[in-house]
Amino acid sequence: MQTRPILQIIEPQTAIEGAGVRLLRSIAPRQSNEYDPFLLFDHFAFNDPIEGPLRGFPYHPHRGIETVTYMLEGSTSHRDSLGNAGLIGPGDVQWMSSGRGILHEEMPRRGESGNIYGFQLWVNLPSHLKMSEPRYQEVLASTIPTYEKDGVTIRVVTGIVDNVTGPVVDIAASPLYLDVRLAPASEWNFPIPSGHTALAYVFEGRGKFSGEAVDSVCMAVFGDGDQLEVRTEADGVRFMLIAGAPFNEPIVPYGPFVMNTVEEIQQTLAELRNGTFIQP
Ligand code: CO
Repeated sequence: MQTRPILQIIEPQTAIEGAGVRLLRSIAPRQSNEYDPFLLFDHFAFNDPIEGPLRGFPYHPHRGIETVTYMLEGSTSHRDSLGNAGLIGPGDVQWMSSGRGILHEEMPRRGESGNIYGFQLWVNLPSHLKMSEPRYQEVLASTIPTYEKDGVTIRVVTGIVDNVTGPVVDIAASPLYLDVRLAPASEWNFPIPSGHTALAYVFEGRGKFSGEAVDSVCMAVFGDGDQLEVRTEADGVRFMLIAGAPFNEPIVPYGPFVMNTVEEIQQTLAELRNGTFIQP
């Protein structure tokens, strides 16, 4: 087995999005597509009563991507152009494949703790699925299985850990999306196929990844190899493990749209202007 080295540590930058939501952004869509098939990773963590539930992400479109919302504290209420509406609560996941187009509203709300804490990941769609039917997979916390062994606790959103399979299925990037916790003085070695992109968003504690110390909060980007190696000493660590197969296609990102060509972006903007973006 070849251990994947750390290639890069990304310090999240503060960004303001939607109607004034302050968040920590680690990666954002870029034509260079370094983290193919992953496009964006945002961490919303706030407890200031002036932000939080008063603001959010009012109606906006998406095309050509999947948006994955994972809440840990608080919730996100959402509505969309397909007529769906609901609440993504603590521990729940919404995996939304926008396909050819969706308009939705996402409004974070504080929970009992008074905090809002969650993540949004954007996963690319390959060219042949960018104009597919929009699709949702909404998974309640109670149906996300937990793997536990020797101080390692993992909520498996999508992918397989030993004999535990996540409930989100049929995603083009064959991703792995895991909420991983290691108790102090633990060790976890996990195979990730060579050639896949692998990222770890470390948001609590600290650990050694491939022998290198990583402190929260940051995104570690791994080089190639076929396994991930994590160890803890006096402190535990918690991180989101994100891995998947790159599509190796050119991308043209434009705000909430990610297509393959400039013409497809122009077409998208023309449809928004003439009112044909959402197909009945
Ligand atoms: Co959105």
